[in-house]
Amino acid sequence: MTLWSGRINVEPAKEMMDFSVSINYDKRLAEDDIFASKVHVQGLLFAGILDNEEVTAMTKALDMVDSELKERTFRFDPSDEDVHTAIERRITEIIGEVGAKLHTGRSRNDQVATALRLYSKRQAKELARQVILLQECLLKRAKEAGGAYLPGYTHLQRAQPILLSHQLLAHGWALARDVDRIFQTIRRMDISPLGAGALAGSSLPLDPDLTAKELGFRGRFDNSLDAVSDRDFVAELLFDCSLLAVHLSRLGEEVVLFSSSEFGFYKLDDSWSTGSSMLPQKKNPDIAELARGKTGRLIGHLAGFLTTLKGLPLAYNRDLQEDKEPLFDALDQLMLALPALIGLMETIEFDLDVMASSADSPEMAAVDLAEWLVEKKVPFRKAHKIIGEIVRESLGRGVDLAELVAAHPDLGPEAVQILEPGVAVQRRKTPGGAGIKAVKEQLNNFSERLVADRNLLDQLDGINRE
Ligand code: ARG
Repeated sequence: MTLWSGRINVEPAKEMMDFSVSINYDKRLAEDDIFASKVHVQGLLFAGILDNEEVTAMTKALDMVDSELKERTFRFDPSDEDVHTAIERRITEIIGEVGAKLHTGRSRNDQVATALRLYSKRQAKELARQVILLQECLLKRAKEAGGAYLPGYTHLQRAQPILLSHQLLAHGWALARDVDRIFQTIRRMDISPLGAGALAGSSLPLDPDLTAKELGFRGRFDNSLDAVSDRDFVAELLFDCSLLAVHLSRLGEEVVLFSSSEFGFYKLDDSWSTGSSMLPQKKNPDIAELARGKTGRLIGHLAGFLTTLKGLPLAYNRDLQEDKEPLFDALDQLMLALPALIGLMETIEFDLDVMASSADSPEMAAVDLAEWLVEKKVPFRKAHKIIGEIVRESLGRGVDLAELVAAHPDLGPEAVQILEPGVAVQRRKTPGGAGIKAVKEQLNNFSERLVADRNLLDQLDGINRE
């Protein structure tokens, strides 16, 4: 039997049901739906619609459904269109007539929005927690890297030597923005839509402020039409997931490149790499590649869902049911990708000699030579030209750059020491730059930031139901 058997007293067409059911994937909202129903029942008690006895019966029935679902003894019925229908059906089976009062003053429209917000808040927190774990791993590796250096690239051409810790933390800071974004998204999604009803609220004396508080939201909706049709929180979380995935993809791409024989900077641990079914010598960076590859799928979820929202009239439309699969999949994929990437990054062996020798080619100190001239009051554009000419000559004639520097009237033997291995990286002085002192400071700032973000996460745990 359907929930609307009064108005439409025939069985729904099979093909319509096949096309419209969401139970297969919205099952995972069960826990949140039950919690929200318990709070709704309390709200009905305060409104004088239910008495204590009825509330006790309903709460017990809801607990029973909860255990059945957890123990996997809950029997789904083919007529269960979605998780909300399934739970309400079962409650009525357990407590009969009283169960029929559960849906008073509520619609599935505010019900689904409430459950999805509760779910998203919890999952977003878990996502942030995993991102912080990856950041902590990067911090640990950065600390271990000490004074190790490698070439920094622009246009994927060797540009300047930089500390390895600087390179690793560059990814860490991008992730810090992801965490911040997730926190902000959580704040905006932290609004209860319960009490908005189908679209216009209710004629019954319900109190959405009360239920919002009991549900652990920081407030209630301001407009019932907006409350049931607002899926900004899904779109925002999908964006956060997509940009996070873009960052993981870039980290993955770097691992792919750096672990290739052409670079040889990283050696992957055997447990975190795959072999080839045909080529016996191969060791492949599949985790890094999948981190890169999954990103397309996540961006697709964002683009697809924004397209679903575009042009929807107010208020609830069934199109909105399409919010769940992309969101669940985006979160699932990231919750798999992050631990795998942590394992990968944790176990990568850095080949410090290869990195250093790649960064020691004297041309990489070209800008330092130019800046040395600037300190001798040569205008930078002129210094740039002088050094550019020497580099051209060195490469063109196959003469050692040091020899030309030593012989040059504006440079001379004093400038030659800048070309010595490991010297250029020591010369970076500016805050936030790739030099030793600045990176040391950066490591401190980064670890302080992680502590602060962990605290924010704990505070979120405090205000939310665990
Ligand atoms: N399964 C639906 C969804 O996810 C629940 C709301 C259904 N509401 C309705 N009026 N048909 O959006």
